[in-house]
Amino acid sequence: MSELIKEINLRRAKRALSDKKIPQETIQRLMTAATYAPSCFNNQSWRFLLLTDDAALKKVHESLSGGNYWVKKAPLVVVTATKPDLDCRLSDRRDYAHPIAGFDPLKVKEAFRIPDEFIVITLVAIGFPGDESALRDKHRELENSARDRKPLEHVLCFNRWAFKSSQN
Ligand SMILES: Cc1cc2nc3c(=O)[nH]c(=O)nc-3n(C[C@H](O)[C@H](O)[C@H](O)COP(=O)(O)O)c2cc1C
Repeated sequence: MSELIKEINLRRAKRALSDKKIPQETIQRLMTAATYAPSCFNNQSWRFLLLTDDAALKKVHESLSGGNYWVKKAPLVVVTATKPDLDCRLSDRRDYAHPIAGFDPLKVKEAFRIPDEFIVITLVAIGFPGDESALRDKHRELENSARDRKPLEHVLCFNRWAFKSSQN
């Protein structure tokens, strides 16, 4: 547990990536670890499309929003997709497929012929640490900044719903 908390404390959204290729064996280990994530009824509703060759990476670059220019350095981009009937659809809108992120999922689906019933949830850019000078000022500052989070009392309450309406 204490090891896990240490790792979580260290994790940051790092954007200064090197374009150094990732060994196949490292990719296997990473993706095996990814599949150990918990899932509803162990449905494992994720489908990962790994992009490592230049032509495939170029195609995904076309889908990125401007602020995600830094993803273009990544030697590996993982497109993560699901479709609702692969996972749990439970009462009260507990539908386990909620996409967010700075790219156009329709462009990704078109470029890689991903069937329409799949929802592209996210892109994961993976690479070794790289040169921060390639980052825009805002991202360079974030790279080594203190972690920015809401005060705990804004996101946590005990025993009764005590959030102010502005915090809902
Ligand atoms: C669902 C999700 C989508 C995100 N999308 C982007 C993104 O498109 N571009 C980006 O640079 N960072 C993205 N991030 C990273 C967040 O901006 C980052 O986690 C947040 O600012 C907190 O920084 P920290 O993770 O270093 O604590 C995303 C994070 C999550 C969980």
